[in-house]
Amino acid sequence: MIKKPMGIFRTVASTLILTIFVYVSHQLTRFTDFSWQGTTLIVSFLAFLFALVIGTFLFFWKEKKLDVNPWRDRLLNGSLTVMAYINFLITLVILRDLLAFADNVTGTWISLEVLYSSQATATLMGLPVAMIALGNAVVRRGARAKIMPVSFANLPSELEGLRIVHITDLHISPSLPLRLVQKLVDQVNAMKPDLVVFTGDILDSFVEKHQQEFEILKQMRATHGIFYVPGNHEYYWDAPKGLQAFRSVGFHVLINQAATLTFGKAELQVAGIPDPAALHFRQEGPELDKVASQLRPGAFKVLLSHQPSLAPQVEKLGVDLQLSGHTHGGQFFPWNWLIVFFERYAKGLYQVGAMQLYVNQGTGYWGPQLRLGTYCELTEIILRKG
Ligand SMILES: [Fe+2]
Repeated sequence: MIKKPMGIFRTVASTLILTIFVYVSHQLTRFTDFSWQGTTLIVSFLAFLFALVIGTFLFFWKEKKLDVNPWRDRLLNGSLTVMAYINFLITLVILRDLLAFADNVTGTWISLEVLYSSQATATLMGLPVAMIALGNAVVRRGARAKIMPVSFANLPSELEGLRIVHITDLHISPSLPLRLVQKLVDQVNAMKPDLVVFTGDILDSFVEKHQQEFEILKQMRATHGIFYVPGNHEYYWDAPKGLQAFRSVGFHVLINQAATLTFGKAELQVAGIPDPAALHFRQEGPELDKVASQLRPGAFKVLLSHQPSLAPQVEKLGVDLQLSGHTHGGQFFPWNWLIVFFERYAKGLYQVGAMQLYVNQGTGYWGPQLRLGTYCELTEIILRKG
């Protein structure tokens, strides 16, 4: 009998989760001088947390409802926070084991009794709470402006000093407070940008639930316009309706299109491609040939693409600067370290052939309401000749 892919996925996922649970429970309670009641309490506590996360995800997996239900949103947020707790706890348990292993290899400079004492275990279980509080404080502060001058030998003198404000991965959803959207729009307007560009994952929910956010986005101003491309998350929630909402607030939605702006004798082209996720939802995916046919030889070219990984193909079009997001810079520990193993272009500025690529680590957040080791970034790209 042939198993369905979903069945295989569930088997692999549950085996993996069970293995992690056994490992964490075992490593947390081994060598400690807890009574059997203490050990049972810790294991039951962990079992409860794991069950809560798995249960919530099974419940929400296919549940996409239009009605506003604060109770449901709170349950989901709570479960995501528990997931963050488990993430930090697993990381700390692994780091302690690695430390013990290194200690074993290099000679004993730390007492294993101290490292695996009940006090150390209690610290290990308490530390994630502090990490969550700290990470939450980072996102509550809102976006932090980052000034990013980028130099080009071929920059027309008319474009010298042009300021492009770059926003990405805001993830408007019930989890993002309205206050942060307002704060962001006020910050952008205070910067008086020449251009504003959005590189996807801006809306991560049904648009009907977020009319207030769109009313706020409508207040955003930029001298030469606001440009937008969708990310993968827009496609999970009825993208055509979402894209229409961005158009209705005055954003130029670029689906394999290039807009041409004139500055004296110089031309600036802003092109955009949609995320490849579009193809899974029978929408128009990235079509580089279509973009290439609109590009003008003498123009300075900026291309917006949610996925930074498309840079090597984009570079072949003769684009000067690609702006991207998607990676969140790993968003929180330890993924801010591990991201380099999954994403070739994780965050910051890269030279890809003759093109430069800038990856913004995200202006909002996804999943649990926290960032640790990264921050909510609002980038001001300044074009320089040199
Ligand atoms: Fe994102």
